[in-house]
Amino acid sequence: MSPTREPWVVGVSGASGTPYAASVIRALLDAGEPVDLIVSRAARLTILDETGISFRDAHWRTDLAAWLGTDEAALHDVRHWSAGDFAAGPSSGSYPAKGMLVVPATTGAAAGIALGLSKDLLQRTASVTLKERRPLVLCLRETPLTGTTLRHLVALDEQGAVVLPASPGFYAGGSTARELVDFVAGRVLDAVGVPHGLYRRWSGTLGEAASTPAGSPETAPRRGE
Ligand SMILES: Cc1cc2nc3c(=O)[nH]c(=O)nc-3n(C[C@H](O)[C@H](O)[C@H](O)COP(=O)(O)O)c2cc1C
Repeated sequence: MSPTREPWVVGVSGASGTPYAASVIRALLDAGEPVDLIVSRAARLTILDETGISFRDAHWRTDLAAWLGTDEAALHDVRHWSAGDFAAGPSSGSYPAKGMLVVPATTGAAAGIALGLSKDLLQRTASVTLKERRPLVLCLRETPLTGTTLRHLVALDEQGAVVLPASPGFYAGGSTARELVDFVAGRVLDAVGVPHGLYRRWSGTLGEAASTPAGSPETAPRRGE
């Protein structure tokens, strides 16, 4: 009997920051992790705005390959579920899954998940993840934050979710947009223990970021390392 497939669910909601999602999905696949993908309706607008790609349910594999800059064969262990499909596998706690990463997360998704609204499959799957006590990470992208959103984030934290703002650190020596995006994506994967080589970790030596930038040949992490 083949072992049960146990994916990470990646929920892409309609916040700016679709490169964070692309980096997380690429790194999960590089780590050999199966991925179940849910793209909210609003995320179609941000993907279109930030990449020029119209993400279509019926052609998701082609569109995802274009978005990630990979070929379709590399997506053999990705499943896609339509955001309106409440009968989808991840909407039940009995569907095997390791946990869920919402990248990027809107304030609306944070609110809906904090309150258990389940307005679409992304929010329903996040609620399922919480009730099953599986890891849930929300990579929030918004600034500044209202008191209402801050209260929702506290509620999420109290329910066991990891609230991880899309907030790149500069101590890893990154200077290009890609390096800063990969830093955030790497912190998302750190939160759930998936190995990656997306950024250079703090070594305990002050000044390393300035003396050996992350992009220099001797320090740049290679994908999948
Ligand atoms: C181009 C664009 C950028 C947006 N950026 C953000 C953002 O950074 N953060 C956010 O919370 N909402 C942002 N929004 C608004 C959300 O898309 C909107 O609140 C939507 O209802 C969220 O739905 P979802 O959580 O189901 O994806 C943006 C919308 C558009 C069209």
